[in-house]
Amino acid sequence: MSDATQSATVTTASSALAERILAVMDRKHHFAYPALTRPGLSRAQLLVHFRHEYLVYVRDFPVLLARTLGQVPPLSDVRVSLAENLYEEQTGGLSKSAPHPELFLRMMEGLGFSRGDFDDDGDAHLHPAAIAYRDMLRAVSAEPPWQNAVALLTIFVEGSVNERAELAGTFVRATGEAAVSKHPLVAHYGCPPSAMSLTRAHAAIEGGHRRDAWRMLLDHVHDGTPLADGVVAMLEETLARWTRYRDGVAERMGLTRDGA
Ligand SMILES: [Fe+2]
Repeated sequence: MSDATQSATVTTASSALAERILAVMDRKHHFAYPALTRPGLSRAQLLVHFRHEYLVYVRDFPVLLARTLGQVPPLSDVRVSLAENLYEEQTGGLSKSAPHPELFLRMMEGLGFSRGDFDDDGDAHLHPAAIAYRDMLRAVSAEPPWQNAVALLTIFVEGSVNERAELAGTFVRATGEAAVSKHPLVAHYGCPPSAMSLTRAHAAIEGGHRRDAWRMLLDHVHDGTPLADGVVAMLEETLARWTRYRDGVAERMGLTRDGA
């Protein structure tokens, strides 16, 4: 366990708010996800999934972080953490790579898709539930309280169903070339490792972002306050929209609960 993970464990262990948030993250799983980690999907199915991911949150994630930063009061610790995250997402400067939306498109080119496949065509490709989830990201990131925006982007969007295990140190992400060679797009779908800089960048910096996310929130939202209740209620609503979004994508991919 790294020092970073250890300090996050200490911070979250005594927090009722952390437990309530982890109970939301425990449910950030979708029946169609396992299909994406094994062979068998067609190019058309992959495109439906990745086009949604790109247009719903990957392309504009740095801008959503910028909106969040723009509403944080003069709290240096929070502004610094958000600025570092934003800098990496929009430039790749910390991981010495490139903007993460650009790295995503390079990964898509590695799969054989063209950049034009990911053009914004007025949401014509998006399921209505995907638009509803994206609308929530755009609204919450720009509206007070800023703690909601931090929780939404840095814990819910950047975090995963593995959040609890990651904080406990029982789930450790693969890093470097191990993360790349194990990645389903490389292992099953022919994406060359050279196109996987996004995975390398995330493996390099994500641990720090997870720690910062929890610290920003737990240092500035106290247990048992209306603010804490508001964060949890917002995350529950987000999870509901996210689930409908993933249901919509699965429907367009032709995946059913039984079939998946
Ligand atoms: Fe990223």
